[in-house]
Amino acid sequence: MTVRTGVIGTGVMGAAHARWLAGSVSGCELTAVYDIDAGQADSVATECGARMFDDPVVLIKDDDVDAVLVASSDATHEQFVLACLAAGKPVLCEKPLAPDVAGCERVLAAQAEAGASLTTVGFMRRYDAGYLAMRDVVQDGSLGRPLVLHCVHRNASPVAAASSTTLITSSAVHEFDVVHWLLDEEIATVTVHRSRPASAAAGTQDPMLLVLTTASGAIVSAEVFTTAAYGYEVRCELVAERGTLLLDDPAPVVLRRDRQAGRGLPADWIPRFAQAYQRELQDWIQAVAVEGPARGATAWDGYLAALVSAAAVAALETGLPQHVRVPERPALYR
Ligand SMILES: NC(=O)c1ccc[n+]([C@@H]2O[C@H](COP(=O)([O-])OP(=O)(O)OC[C@H]3O[C@@H](n4cnc5c(N)ncnc54)[C@H](O)[C@@H]3O)[C@@H](O)[C@H]2O)c1
Repeated sequence: MTVRTGVIGTGVMGAAHARWLAGSVSGCELTAVYDIDAGQADSVATECGARMFDDPVVLIKDDDVDAVLVASSDATHEQFVLACLAAGKPVLCEKPLAPDVAGCERVLAAQAEAGASLTTVGFMRRYDAGYLAMRDVVQDGSLGRPLVLHCVHRNASPVAAASSTTLITSSAVHEFDVVHWLLDEEIATVTVHRSRPASAAAGTQDPMLLVLTTASGAIVSAEVFTTAAYGYEVRCELVAERGTLLLDDPAPVVLRRDRQAGRGLPADWIPRFAQAYQRELQDWIQAVAVEGPARGATAWDGYLAALVSAAAVAALETGLPQHVRVPERPALYR
């Protein structure tokens, strides 16, 4: 089966996904695109040989669309995921599933109503070779219990209209999912520490340092710094009872020149995680083709990340540690 895909939201991330679905992911084709900015959609449709739609719900219901990728801005995710669930179509939604807990709860309820796990959330680090290798070692138990995790998330320049809240709900949310997935447990508490803001922070609390504890008692530091200027960088180091794991620098060469040696840094997340994004897409297409359950992050994982985001926003606002209260998972929720 060739999976016919539609992409809603063809900005930086959606255009990249559209190109991969049209060109490098096997077993699928890109048939449809929509963006509220018609010029943006038109250029991606022309480049990728897809049909441009002027209504996202018509795209979702179209007979030439088997599955939908949502890469529009964060606040619009919920409405499109709900429309996909109502149409009974699998959807890969970029992170966050929704910026708020209530939105994720509505998605979980709609998915339970649909009676199938149709939603995948785009936490692509789960497909990164380095993170996967770290997880393998954590799971084989050879290093003993994880004790401390250090995470660093730096962007060269912030996304437009970033706020202190979106630094949590849209950037730190990657770290929340990594902690949950890598350590295979839930985050129990979160505290947010403020440094003085960087000169380029434009009124946001950038950088910020989040300290998390997990249900079993590990501790996590997560720095989010989106105006770091020098480049895009994600770091992760796990300290366990019998050794440590350090996510390696993915640059393949070391350049020596003028009595200096160094590695290049990407400008943003697309070159850094290009392979992970494509593995994520390939896995999603495969799951859709065989009508199997989605294998990436589920709607429940998106919900767990939103619970931590909400607690972190409260921690930022109050300056106090916050508990993350995870309700019992209803049997139908995945
Ligand atoms: N997984 C990752 O690593 C990663 C990285 C970057 C962005 N993202 C996520 O991908 C999404 C897109 O981010 P981006 O960097 O491409 O931003 P962007 O601003 O470049 O693109 C967003 C696009 O959404 C469109 N849009 C806005 N409202 C819409 C609506 N109602 N209907 C349809 N289209 C609408 C905009 O016109 C724009 O083209 C965001 O949710 C972001 O959080 C994920």
